[in-house]
Amino acid sequence: MSVGPGEDLNFLKKEFEEFLKGLICLPIKFPGTRLYKSLKAKERLLKMVRKIVEERKLTMEEISDEKGVAKDAVDVLLRDNGEANEKQSLSLDFISSNIIEMMIPGEETVPMAMTLAVKFLTDSPVALKQLTFESQGSRICWENLCLPTRVGTSSLGCGTGLKVINETLRMANIINGVWRKALKDVEIKGHLIPKGWCVLTSFLSVHMDEENYDNPYQFDPWRWEKMGAAINNNIFTPFGGGQRLCPGFELSRLEISIFLHHLVTTYE
Ligand code: HEM
Repeated sequence: MSVGPGEDLNFLKKEFEEFLKGLICLPIKFPGTRLYKSLKAKERLLKMVRKIVEERKLTMEEISDEKGVAKDAVDVLLRDNGEANEKQSLSLDFISSNIIEMMIPGEETVPMAMTLAVKFLTDSPVALKQLTFESQGSRICWENLCLPTRVGTSSLGCGTGLKVINETLRMANIINGVWRKALKDVEIKGHLIPKGWCVLTSFLSVHMDEENYDNPYQFDPWRWEKMGAAINNNIFTPFGGGQRLCPGFELSRLEISIFLHHLVTTYE
């Protein structure tokens, strides 16, 4: 949104933090509860973001800069007219809530994964040494990162960076699980989940299951040499799976890779 340091940014940060606290909480909504405070914070956040978006739209119209180069996400969304033949541009409410949703990966999931990767590397000098060795003198490119070209396939070998990222996400998955509601009676391995029941699929349980991983509590990036880099299988689900698979899975691994590359090549 291109909001520089100052009062506005402090306000956004404060309200965003309050909003986040309610993302996973007891669904009880009345004054004083976590959910209530979180929703109120989201309302204030939305108001502020909408104001910023409105001001930007006005500026764009004043200088008739609709075709210029977009400098941030607000610009991109304001310029988006949907399909080429659609006259209707995105509504300001839609843009504002999109911006807030983007704050979650921007502020939470990816930075948290970066922090955890640093923690695990600090505890594993051998992995750190190998990552540093590989990163020095190499440039970051898609080939080096060996990110999958399609969901679930890895076309190239797997560098230490990606192994470290996979292992970090396995051990300390930021999103521990997701909720689903059974739309009809479902039977899984002899267990009945009746229609209407909610199910918590625990990623952590899968990632820490000895049947899936040897010494699951040990940070071992080299295990990925044998396992490959696929991110969409039943035993490695940091980005969820199926229809709701995280659309940011490649972007986030790219961001973390770039961060790790600069960290180990620039600092001791
Ligand atoms: C390490 C970083 C990340 C992790 C661990 C992560 C994890 C996840 C998971 C587990 C889900 C599935 C939720 C569900 O099934 O209910 C999800 C959904 C989603 N993620 Fe991520 N994510 C990350 C980064 C990102 C980034 C960078 C973006 C966008 C720039 C993003 C955008 C989304 C969106 C829009 C959804 C909703 C998809 C849908 O409901 O169809 N995520 N993410």
